[in-house]
Amino acid sequence: MEESPKKVPSLARNWISFVGITIAIIAAINIGFLVFADLGAEKANPYVGIMAYIVVPGVLIFGLAVMILGMILERRRRRRSAPDEIPRYPDIDLNNPGTRKAFVITMVALTIFVMVSIVGSYQAYHYTDSDAFCGTACHSVMHPEYTAYQASPHARVGCVNCHIGSGATWYVKSKMSGAYQLYAMVAKKYPKPIPTPVANLRPAQETCERCHWPEKFWGAQLKVFNHFGYDEANTPRETRMLIKTGGGSPSTGLTAGIHWHMNIENETTYVAADPQRQQIPWVRIRNRRTGEMTEYKLENTEMTDAQIAATPKRTMDCVDCHNRPTHIYEPPDRAVDKAMLANHVSRTLPYMKQQAVAALTKDYNTTAEAVAAIDKDIRAYYAAEYPDLVTSRKGELDRSIHHLKEIFKTIRFPEMKTDWRTHPNNIGHFYSIGCFRCHDDQHVSEDGKKITKECSICHDVLGQKEAGVMMVEAPDADFQHPVDLGDMRAMNCADCHTGSGM
Ligand code: HEC
Ligand code: HEC
Ligand code: HEC
Ligand code: HEC
Ligand code: HEC
Ligand code: HEC
Repeated sequence: MEESPKKVPSLARNWISFVGITIAIIAAINIGFLVFADLGAEKANPYVGIMAYIVVPGVLIFGLAVMILGMILERRRRRRSAPDEIPRYPDIDLNNPGTRKAFVITMVALTIFVMVSIVGSYQAYHYTDSDAFCGTACHSVMHPEYTAYQASPHARVGCVNCHIGSGATWYVKSKMSGAYQLYAMVAKKYPKPIPTPVANLRPAQETCERCHWPEKFWGAQLKVFNHFGYDEANTPRETRMLIKTGGGSPSTGLTAGIHWHMNIENETTYVAADPQRQQIPWVRIRNRRTGEMTEYKLENTEMTDAQIAATPKRTMDCVDCHNRPTHIYEPPDRAVDKAMLANHVSRTLPYMKQQAVAALTKDYNTTAEAVAAIDKDIRAYYAAEYPDLVTSRKGELDRSIHHLKEIFKTIRFPEMKTDWRTHPNNIGHFYSIGCFRCHDDQHVSEDGKKITKECSICHDVLGQKEAGVMMVEAPDADFQHPVDLGDMRAMNCADCHTGSGM
């Protein structure tokens, strides 16, 4: 090269590119600031995260794109009006000290840029998988799920462990549906409540079973159920039961018990008549080893054989029973029982259970409205019926009302129309049909075998107390209903025990 090429003004000297560069610089400064704020913050703030790792980098890339667009347009313009002002492509001759210096600087800058963007995209990946992002970024939408989750046994298990799991495929899948969800949220198109079952929930073998495995369930679990009555005395009742969790595996041999269902050898397949899988007209058991099969059909189902054959079948896994392992929307009856047991809500104020459940069950449009109404209604009741108590036991009444308002906020979400009725829990059979969807003595096989409702296949009563007096004690252990109802197998508990009072 004898002669260095004529200096021509850079292609970036045009208005469009200036605008692009300005946008990019402002975005870069903002990213620096936001990342600093995010790393410095004690508690992750979802909005800072979204801005720092998703929105502002998008703006930066947009700015750079605008700059390049400006350069392309400028090149075209010069080709028409001033061809000699089009810069030549650079001659890269590393023997030239000037070029060498420029080359090294470019390479270093490029490396830094690539490294920063790797860290940035890792942060974005990490960030969009965090509980703060899942639970609070779409604040009002996920509010019920996040609130219930935080009070559940899985509060320390990240959302992603159940909803996404590891691996790139599920990450991409979830982010694709996430992108749609983001749109649905902005366009206010999301359904209220968010429906279940979740159509694309990752199979339980890949989520739950990473922490819990069927071989591990063994024997039985003692559970104590405490209730308070709807009478003046809020009569306490206690049932102690041995829940036969059971389990087993091919290596340990066949065992009975509830997790019999999850024994690898037993495959339970079913057809549901409704989207929430609460009505189950057809069930099939298949022994994977011997291939032996039994089909059960609900005696008086409205579905015809052809309809059943045409409906997609589902193979039972953990979430068919544990559909509420973490988003547990408690019925008012249970929430008040728990609060009375803990003495947060008074057990001795007359009719407290009845009044509390009634106030928590009414229909409200907003949480604020509900909280105000609970306060007003309960005070009004005691002022009318027990005026002396309002002054003599003011502290107790205030404390109870305070806790009832807090309970409302954790179990009912009028803004999202979400509560125990929209998202029933399939464990047990007390407040919703649960196990009795199949175990109802009415699913019959060709040879007359029934899916049993025999109480003792699932649990044994060890003891039953009422108002502190032992009513029933093992070994003569049959559950004794407080009100004589005759044959307990002939009824569904949830028909009366709706969770909203008696
Ligand atoms: C222990 C596992 C687990 C964890 C942790 C978990 N979920 Fe879920 N989630 C489930 C199951 C199971 C369902 C219901 C599946 C069904 O019925 O099909 C569900 C359902 C949902 C639904 C549908 C609506 C509803 O209330 O059922 C949303 C939304 C949801 N989860 C969001 C979240 C968010 C946000 C987090 C983290 C804050 C989270 N989940 C953490 C297991 C989990
Ligand atoms: C990342 C690990 C992890 C995953 C994934 C996980 N769990 Fe758990 N689970 C736990 C831990 C830890 C506990 C114990 C919490 C405690 O004792 O407070 C628990 C407790 C439970 C319990 C007992 C709850 C109780 O009331 O005591 C059930 C039932 C359960 N998990 C079901 C599930 C189901 C169903 C899934 C899949 C949808 C699942 N878990 C996914 C870690 C996990
Ligand atoms: C047929 C319904 C059903 C299925 C299917 C099922 N479970 Fe359970 N599981 C139960 C019941 C009922 C209990 C007793 C707990 C209770 O009453 O709250 C239980 C208890 C548990 C517990 C607590 C056990 C203990 O000893 O503390 C864990 C953990 C658990 N299940 C995990 C799972 C996992 C993981 C799967 C899938 C591999 C699964 N379950 C499948 C019904 C089921
Ligand atoms: C989709 C239908 C279905 C649901 C829902 C269901 N089961 Fe079952 N269950 C069956 C069938 C079918 C059998 C096997 C009947 C047979 O062929 O012996 C069975 C068997 C059992 C057994 C007996 C195992 C043995 O020792 O023989 C237990 C215990 C059990 N289930 C508990 C539960 C519990 C607890 C729930 C609710 C949390 C539940 N099941 C929900 C269909 C169901
Ligand atoms: C297919 C299994 C199964 C059968 C059959 C069954 N139960 Fe249960 N039952 C359960 C499970 C599981 C729970 C625990 C639910 C929980 O942990 O919340 C339960 C809970 C209960 C409770 C405690 C409810 C509460 O919240 O106080 C009572 C009482 C009860 N069962 C009575 C009966 C009676 C009576 C029968 C017979 C007519 C019966 N059950 C049949 C599985 C069964
Ligand atoms: C026909 C309606 C009806 C049916 C069906 C019914 N119950 Fe009850 N149950 C009641 C009434 C009424 C009470 C008494 C409430 C009170 O005294 O406050 C009660 C009380 C109870 C209690 C004491 C808890 C409390 O709130 O005081 C338990 C436990 C119970 N029932 C279990 C069951 C079980 C399990 C089943 C299903 C096998 C069942 N019930 C079916 C009407 C019913």
